Amino acid sequence: MFNKRTKIKALLTGSHTGQIVTAMGWVRSFRNNQFIALNDGSTNHNIQVVAELGLLDDATLKRITTGASLKVEGTLIESLGKGQTVEIKATSVEILGDSDAEQYPLQPKKHSLEFLREIAHLRFRTNTFSAVFRIRHALAFAVHQFFNEKGFVYLHTPIITSSDAEGAGEMFRVTTLPVDGSAPKTENGDIDFSQDFFGKSTNLTVSGQLEGELGAMAFSEIYTFGPTFRAENSNTTRHLAEFWMIEPEMAFCDIEDNQNLAEEFIQYLIKYAMENCADDLAFLDQRLAEEEKQKPTNERQEFGLIEKLKFVTDSKFERITYTEAIAILLDSPAYKKKKFKYDVSWGIDMQSEHERYLVEKHFKKPVIVTGYPAAIKAFYMRLNDGCEPGKQTVAAMDILAPGIGEIVGGSQREERLDKLVARMEEMHIPTHEMSWYLDTRRFGTVPHAGFGLGFERMVQFVTGMGNIRDVIAFARTPKNCEF
Ligand code: 4AD
Ligand code: MG
Repeated sequence: MFNKRTKIKALLTGSHTGQIVTAMGWVRSFRNNQFIALNDGSTNHNIQVVAELGLLDDATLKRITTGASLKVEGTLIESLGKGQTVEIKATSVEILGDSDAEQYPLQPKKHSLEFLREIAHLRFRTNTFSAVFRIRHALAFAVHQFFNEKGFVYLHTPIITSSDAEGAGEMFRVTTLPVDGSAPKTENGDIDFSQDFFGKSTNLTVSGQLEGELGAMAFSEIYTFGPTFRAENSNTTRHLAEFWMIEPEMAFCDIEDNQNLAEEFIQYLIKYAMENCADDLAFLDQRLAEEEKQKPTNERQEFGLIEKLKFVTDSKFERITYTEAIAILLDSPAYKKKKFKYDVSWGIDMQSEHERYLVEKHFKKPVIVTGYPAAIKAFYMRLNDGCEPGKQTVAAMDILAPGIGEIVGGSQREERLDKLVARMEEMHIPTHEMSWYLDTRRFGTVPHAGFGLGFERMVQFVTGMGNIRDVIAFARTPKNCEF
């Protein structure tokens, strides 16, 4: 058996001290022809391997270079040196894979995040990215744990669909028809998708919600957690063309229950990371603090990373209506001094500068905004009763987070068949193609609600990473699909 080893994280706990151990990993650094810092990705801390002079011949020593992979055997002993409590006194060092020092792009020094994005296939081997991706893993695990504890059913909704859940039309087409102009045409010259693989026009899903609602109408409570795709041409630090979304959907649930669940969920995820990734968070906290020091004082963030996370788990989110949010913006010094690029009035789709003002300047904590104008929201959101004429709102909710902006979007759904159909017709959504969706309102409809949490934005919030491209393994953004 080859893989009889102990992970470095376990070795560093010290519980194996005095034993003969085997470790495997990649060389982070090698000094004085004697001290190897070895890392296997189980923790950011390296184990020091001491190869006493004379143990290895010159040819082997030359091959111990940064990035090379090793199998090390020896005794785990208490370390006399600074910086580690235990180390391996090697009895054998086997080189599993060489790494040409001249060519290996990762040197034991600080590289910029931009440079590391270009070598995303190797960046997992850096302290920053291994911390980020271990935290991402922990958060994904916590998502399942949270919903499993509550008895939600994990529903795998399809990736390829023929509907546009958000009605926004920003979709990637899926087709097997030729793209060289020879695709079959209909009588009026359009491409004839009836001859396509699925016999109709299809796309990658933008959201699993509509299918999620079908599940909720049987299991009461479901969630999805999968990739979603949006062909929006937004080159920002918050947008990906392929991102992961968690979408719970609950029957017998209104907009207030929905807000309560979303707040509890976000706080649960943060607490889980704080309890299970303390080491990695401490590293990122330190990293961010150093980054902040480079900035002018007036641009520095008020809180450190861990401080911020603790604050968010300890305080209740602010809850306001869209109408109140607009009033706050109109009354703000920023508005009065014409600091906003985009104008403010009731009915606007708030821009990120407005959202950031609300959370970062005004409330200084996460804010849940409800009751958005119907005109700027999706067809499935429940119309609020008793609105002023010309100011029809829907039971929508967005959660805005400091430094991130919108992290959650959700709503109570329109469960009244007549109102839903009328809204769909108004918005030119073909009801005959959505008859499966309308069936839930025909047969035992109930008040229900749900939301979508953007997983990468959540990982950004917890890790403090400024660019969304740095919290997903291989980012897909406009004009960029490497690896
Ligand atoms: O607000 P959105 O568009 O809502 C929906 O898709 C609903 N169907 C959710 C539901 O009610 N079940 O997207 C939800 C969240 C946003 O709040 C944001 O966090 C994230 O998904 N998101 C993106 N994340 C990264 N890149 C993008 N291009 C994103 N677009 C949305
Ligand atoms: Mg949204």
